[in-house]
Amino acid sequence: MCGIVAYLGRKAAQPILIEGLKRLEYRGYDSAGIALLEGGRLAVCKTKGRISELESILNPPNEAQTIGIGHTRWATHGAPNDVNAHPHVDYTGKIALVHNGIIENYATLKTWLSEQGVPFVSDTDTEVVANLIGYFYENGDKRSDKEPENRFEWAVQRALHEVYGTYGLAIMCTDYPEMLIGAKKGSPLILGVGQNEYVLASDASAIVQHTEQAMYLSDNEMVTVYPKSFHTKTTDNVLVSRELGEIEFSLDQIELDGFQHYMLKEICEQPARLEKCFSGRVDVRGGRVVLGGLATYSRQLTQTKRIILTGCGTAWHAALVGEFLVEQLARINAETEYASEFRYRNPVIEEGTVVIAISQSGETADTLAAIEMAKERGATVLGVVNVVGSSIARNTDAGVYLRVGPEIGVASTKAFTAQVGVVTMLAIELARRRHLGSDQASAMLKELLLIPEKIRHILSQSDEIKKVAEANVDRENWLFLGRGVNYPVALEGALKLKEISYIHAEGLPAAEMKHGPIALITKGMPVVFIATQCSQYEKVLGNVEEVRARGGKTIIVATEGDEEIKKHADHLITVPQTIDHLQPMLTVVPLQLMAYHAAVLRGHDVDKPRNLAKSVTVE
Ligand code: F6R
Repeated sequence: MCGIVAYLGRKAAQPILIEGLKRLEYRGYDSAGIALLEGGRLAVCKTKGRISELESILNPPNEAQTIGIGHTRWATHGAPNDVNAHPHVDYTGKIALVHNGIIENYATLKTWLSEQGVPFVSDTDTEVVANLIGYFYENGDKRSDKEPENRFEWAVQRALHEVYGTYGLAIMCTDYPEMLIGAKKGSPLILGVGQNEYVLASDASAIVQHTEQAMYLSDNEMVTVYPKSFHTKTTDNVLVSRELGEIEFSLDQIELDGFQHYMLKEICEQPARLEKCFSGRVDVRGGRVVLGGLATYSRQLTQTKRIILTGCGTAWHAALVGEFLVEQLARINAETEYASEFRYRNPVIEEGTVVIAISQSGETADTLAAIEMAKERGATVLGVVNVVGSSIARNTDAGVYLRVGPEIGVASTKAFTAQVGVVTMLAIELARRRHLGSDQASAMLKELLLIPEKIRHILSQSDEIKKVAEANVDRENWLFLGRGVNYPVALEGALKLKEISYIHAEGLPAAEMKHGPIALITKGMPVVFIATQCSQYEKVLGNVEEVRARGGKTIIVATEGDEEIKKHADHLITVPQTIDHLQPMLTVVPLQLMAYHAAVLRGHDVDKPRNLAKSVTVE
C-alpha cells in the first residue's frame, strides 16, 4: 500500500527520496510525489503514475535541499490523480506531509475546518490532517497564554488528538527548516539512524541502503528529528526512550540478482529459505521441534482444547493447511478464520484458546485488528510472521519468524511455503507431545528436511511448466481442484493465477465441483487437479474423469512415477513423492511457476499487478 520515505541529513535529499520510493514501489501505488524544503520554501512535485513519470518532471537535484518527504499513494479517498497525490500542503503553505492509513473522521473534521474558513483542494482524508495541523499552528493554543516550546511539534500533537483512524505521517514545516516529524498509529513507521542523517520510512527496504540502525515507532508515538539528534514522545507529549535495533536484512536481499522478476527470484529461493526456516528447529534424532519463540507457551499449546488460525489471502491459505495438520496430527480442535471476518464477529473464546495469526508483512490491518479482538477476549495470541519487528510481531504474546528474508513480489510465494513449514513443525511437535511416538515424529521430520531438495527438483521443470502455461494462457476461466491438505493449495494456485495474470480462476475442494461449479466446464476449459498419491487419490481420479467427460482440459499435478495418471492428463506435471501431510510445500510450487509464466506470457507487470498492494495496511 502507500509508502513513505523522508530524509534529513547532509546530502541532497531528492535522489535519496526517489531511490527510497523505488524501493517501496513493490507495495503497490498509483501516484507518487516529493516535497523538499529550502530557505523557508516548499517545493512540491507530484503526479499520477509511476516513479519514472515523477522523475521526468523533477528539477535537477539541488545540494542545498537536505530535507524532504516522499510518498507512493494507493488511492483510498479520492481518485488517483495529481491533486490527490501526496505530499499535501496545508492552506497556510507552511506544513507539508505524507500519510499512510485512513482518517476515519475526516468528513467531520473537514466540515469543521471549512466552517472556520479553511479551504481544501483535494478529495483526500490526508489534506484534512495537513489543514488541521496548519490551523492549530496558525491559531496557537487558545486555552493557554503560554507559547508552546516547539509550536510545530505542539500543533502536530494537538491535531492528532482530533483524529480517529490510522496514520503513518512524515511532516515538515517551513518555519522549522531543520526538523522532521514522524507519527504513527496503526501504520508502520521506522526511523533509520545514520551518521548525522536520518531516513524515516514505512518500510525498512527504503532505509537499509543508508543504515542498518533503526528504531521502530509504536502506536501513538511521534519522533522529532533534528540534524544531529532526535527524540521520541507519545502524542501526549511524554518522552519515550527507545533502543536502536538492527534491520535484519541486507541490500543484496532486495536486489533482483539477475532474475527478471522478484516473484521468480522468490519462487527459486524457496529451497534455501525453507532450509533456513527449519535450521536449528528440527531435531530429527530426538523426534522434536524446538520453536524457541513459543517456549513460554508450550504447556498451554499442548493442553489447549482449541486453536484458531487466522490471516488474510495467502496467509489464510497457509492457516487452512495448519488447521488440517493440527487436527489430523495433534488431534486438537482447530479452525481457520478470515481475519477480516473474525474481527467483527463476537466469537466464543474459551479460557485457554490459542489464536495463531499468520502474516508475511506483519502489518495487515485486518489481522492486527483480529489479534486485538482475540486478546481482549482473553485468548493467547501467537504470531507466525516474516518481518522482524513488525506490528504483528510486537502485538502478539509470542511467535515464530519465517526467516525467508524480504518478500518483494506482490504475489506471495516463499512466505507461503515457510508459513506452511512453520505450521507443519508446530503440528508435528504438538502431536509428539500429546500422543505421537517419537519414532513416528522422527520419520516425519526426516522427510520434512528433504522438502527443500525436492523443491529444487520441481524448479528444474520450470520450462515444461511454462509450456503448459503457454498452451492454456488464452483461456479466461480456470478451475483448481484438490482434496484434503491439497485443497488450500488449489485455492492458492487459483489466487496466484488471478492476481498476476488477471485470468479468472477458482479454487475448490474437488468433490464440491458436482454441487454447482461443474456447470462451468466447457470444451477446453483448463482444470488443474492436485492428484498426488495420497489417501484420497482414487477419489480425485474420479473427479478428473468427471471433468474429462465434459470436455475440460486436465492439467494434473501428480506424484513422480505414477503411470496410471498419464491416461487422465492432458498436461502432466510431477512432484517428488512425500508423505501426505507435507505435500502442500511441493504441490504449490508448480502452481506458482504456472501463474508466473502465464502472467509473463500475457505481458503483465508480474511484480506490480494492477490494483494490488503488497501489504494491506488499511481495512
Ligand atoms: C497474495 C498475497 C496476499 C497476502 C495477504 C496477507 O499473493 O500476497 O493475499 O497474503 O494480503 O498479507 P500478509 O501475509 O502480509 O498479512
